[in-house]
Amino acid sequence: MKRYIFPQPAPSEITSKSNFLNRREFMKMAGAASIATAGGSLLSPSVQAQDTLKFSKGSPFSISDEPNPLEDIKSYNNFYEFGTGKDDPAKNAGALTTRPWSIKIDGLTNKPSELDIEDLMTKFDLEERIYRLRCVEAWSMVIPWVGIPLADVIKAYEPQGSAKYVSFETLVRPEEMNGQNSLFGGLDWPYVEGLRMDEAMHPLTILAVGVYGDLMPNQNGAPVRLVVPWKYGFKSIKSIVRMSFTEEQPPTTWNIQGPSEYGFYSNVNPNVDHPRWSQKSERIIGSGLFAKKRDTEMFNGYEEQVASLYTGMDLAKNF
Ligand code: MTE
Repeated sequence: MKRYIFPQPAPSEITSKSNFLNRREFMKMAGAASIATAGGSLLSPSVQAQDTLKFSKGSPFSISDEPNPLEDIKSYNNFYEFGTGKDDPAKNAGALTTRPWSIKIDGLTNKPSELDIEDLMTKFDLEERIYRLRCVEAWSMVIPWVGIPLADVIKAYEPQGSAKYVSFETLVRPEEMNGQNSLFGGLDWPYVEGLRMDEAMHPLTILAVGVYGDLMPNQNGAPVRLVVPWKYGFKSIKSIVRMSFTEEQPPTTWNIQGPSEYGFYSNVNPNVDHPRWSQKSERIIGSGLFAKKRDTEMFNGYEEQVASLYTGMDLAKNF
């Protein structure tokens, strides 16, 4: 049942002077609050005890744009499990316990498993990927993720030949995820997503476990979230607890909520508008009140790398 759709960005996303000033105020408060917590971060104590992540830098897939400051990345989020406001995840996600944590791997695989988060972070090679996150709401920011190519994980768990898709599920834990109790703006839980197998295996697709060289802040999807940089941000499912190999195309949360507005593919495409707003340009978070919008690029700038995945497909129909 359709219960909630993304608000139209035009009125709310045009940053009025008062909103802009409120946001700066909020960021100052969020900064002060994080200094007040032990270790200066929203991570749980067991996680804070760890070393910073060991990862390689300089991926050919990274963009050269200057990343947004960490404060932008941690304070302007979509994570409906913690509320629908952009500042709700920063306020509420500290309640999430991220250890112990494991991902159930099941479906059409020769190795059904429980993959422990520590194994994911130590048995696979981590690397930094600087990607632009282009949200369907027509804003974007540049984020230095630390992650593992999803293909490495998929190969290790041996999907069977009949597996055509990979589906993903987010944690359901209403005791810690206040948005899962909400009657207003709630989604059908768990949040679910899916990729076609060739999209999942593409070298650009990563499972991210950190940003700016440190463990993932809770509001960004700790301890592990998907990042698919040529698709709108909502494909990048957070706080993953399950990954299944399937023969049929899996359901996806925003497609369930609004099938005429959010398709399975959700590729960044300036030529196919959302029914209620344009996708031709985007507002850059943190760029200030009078900043010019940025032209949105086909496949978010990765046309050369990914266009061949969609050869012969009508991308207006398969949006
Ligand atoms: N994953 C879950 N589980 N719940 C969500 O509400 N929001 C999506 C995506 N992943 C969402 C989610 C949307 S709409 C976006 S734009 C990105 O996360 C935002 O990621 P960020 O907050 O790290 O920038």
